[in-house]
Amino acid sequence: METIKERIKQLCDIIEQHNFLYYVKNQPEISDFEFDLLMNELIKLEGQYPEYKLPNSPTSRVGSDINNEFASVPHDYPMLSLGNTYSEGELRDFHNRVKKELELEPEYVCELKFDGISISIKYINGDFVRAVTRGDGTRGDDVSNNVKTIRSIPLKIKDEDFPKDIEVRGEIYMSRDIFNMLNEQRRQAREQEFANPRNAAAGSVKLLNSREVAKRKLDCFFYYAIGDELPAKTQWESLILLRKWGFKVSENIKLCKNFSELIEYINFWDKERKNLPYDIDGIVIKVNSFKQQEILGFTAKTPKWAIAYKFKAEQALTKLLSIDYQVGRTGAVTPVANLEPVWLGGTIVKRASLHNADQIALLGIRIGDMVYIEKGGEIIPKIVGVEAHEPNSEPTKFIEFCPECGTKLIRPEGEARHFCPNTESCPPQIKGRIEHFISRKAMNIESIGEETVNLLYEAGLVKTPADLYKLNKEQLVKLERMADKSSENIINSIENSKNVPFERVLYALGIRYVGEATAKKIANIFGNIEKLASASKEKLMEVDEIGERIAESIIEFFNNKNNLKIITELMNAGLKFSLEKAANLSDKFNGLSFVISGTFNNFSRDELKLIIEKNGGKIMSSVSKNTDYLVAGENMGPAKLEKANKLGVKIISEGEFLKMLNE
Ligand code: IVH
Repeated sequence: METIKERIKQLCDIIEQHNFLYYVKNQPEISDFEFDLLMNELIKLEGQYPEYKLPNSPTSRVGSDINNEFASVPHDYPMLSLGNTYSEGELRDFHNRVKKELELEPEYVCELKFDGISISIKYINGDFVRAVTRGDGTRGDDVSNNVKTIRSIPLKIKDEDFPKDIEVRGEIYMSRDIFNMLNEQRRQAREQEFANPRNAAAGSVKLLNSREVAKRKLDCFFYYAIGDELPAKTQWESLILLRKWGFKVSENIKLCKNFSELIEYINFWDKERKNLPYDIDGIVIKVNSFKQQEILGFTAKTPKWAIAYKFKAEQALTKLLSIDYQVGRTGAVTPVANLEPVWLGGTIVKRASLHNADQIALLGIRIGDMVYIEKGGEIIPKIVGVEAHEPNSEPTKFIEFCPECGTKLIRPEGEARHFCPNTESCPPQIKGRIEHFISRKAMNIESIGEETVNLLYEAGLVKTPADLYKLNKEQLVKLERMADKSSENIINSIENSKNVPFERVLYALGIRYVGEATAKKIANIFGNIEKLASASKEKLMEVDEIGERIAESIIEFFNNKNNLKIITELMNAGLKFSLEKAANLSDKFNGLSFVISGTFNNFSRDELKLIIEKNGGKIMSSVSKNTDYLVAGENMGPAKLEKANKLGVKIISEGEFLKMLNE
């Protein structure tokens, strides 16, 4: 006779097989009634013999009323996003870049870009271990209990030949039917409706009660597998494997051999997408071969071997009421349209961006016009066209003087935007720089918000970031609505910010075009502010990913006496203007420049770059007379090799590199 333990295991397997047939294959073999009988038997047995309950039992799919706690956990592999393109021309640019780097025409896999929220699920020995949201890409929330309620997601990998340790990634979404039903229920219950299926899916995944999540009937398409022993050499093979392992992979994937096949696929789905039962917002195009993907590598945030083609967004027609001009921290002036409120893509829109004077002239836009608006990748929608002019209206004239400080605006050569040149005393620029300086990714001075910056500025206490470090508690308590305790918090968090590492201090300085990733890169390469400040344009441009625009902006920043004064004051206040010693493993490659090409056996290209940088070396993107070594991997591009030979640059193999490293 079979034991209870065996029967429980058997029921789990049978129920999961029927879940798979119903939710993934869409081919149920038993009635709902028969399914419920099996489920009830399992629930009963697990109740009687809790010691035999399996951790990934299908009964966990109904959720529980115990309040979820979403622990923040690191991703084993970062969760990146994709670069976006909006036109055939931009897609062609991507294709040309890929061809140039690979020196051949690659095969691509085209996939639908599902509009939901991404999830990464870890399976060990085939068992569902943990599901984590994207979060900031390096850490996310553990939402395992909620994700287990999604019936199409395997709790156990089917088949035998799966790697021991694997992570699979996909998009959790809500179908339009379920979304409409949910909103209807919420309308009746007088609850706030969701704007669109994506928001509904995102909100559901983060619900505290997993039993409620189970009712939301979410679903998930998978599109990516990562692991050390993945038995696939291409994206296509990995999708087929995922399907074989029981994951729901879209039927609408396609292998494309050339550019015109990509365009054909895109055009087909642009028309056809309205007939899908779920939302997609574009197409994802991925280089098929993993070897080629590795050669192409990554930028700080996105792979260079894949790109998203975004469909043209929905439009709405409304009336332009007036134009405001906003001044940002860099002095850039942005015209913003005030509109008659209109419903667009699930939200009510009242404001839209007009970008710059050229855009206004191009659209020929006038106050009172009926205009088309559209939601792009950004949160704030934009005006894309004029339907009809308001009769008797005057052409719009871009303002000549700063609306905040009255200074005459300038428009630097080659810039589409107007700027207020009064960097020193134009209030939104001063406040904007301080707000940027204290922001979370910069100095993270949490206790000061926008309102406090305003107070400090109005009271004449803070005009530059350096002034923050001169504040004392007595000055703060005198300010409006400032209690003893909050003054103390502010002083403490300013004091604490002195421990922020160099790379974030550099980012906090607000050098135009120097974002978080660039700041980190240059901090690691130059090591301290003196070296950075004295670097020439050429020297700056030798750094991987620093182009002319960024290099010029850095030079300009350090040529400004006021900036140097602020830096000196910040230094005297005790902020970190050089890398901590421990950040580097050694300075063995100090002063040496490397170019790497091809693929390597012992590390990925990104790992190799990091090792070189951590040992004091510099990575350059192309071979020049300043290159010391070309590290040649397998399948390296012949162009780099030829150039290195011509310039007499030393070419070393992976083995020789390792020897240098270990010497
Ligand atoms: S691949 C490293 N494939 O789009 C590449 N992403 O903007 C990882 N998405 O965060 C992404 N459908 O949430 C990929 N077929 C698909 C996708 C897809 C939707 C989402 C995903 C990702 C975002 C990128």
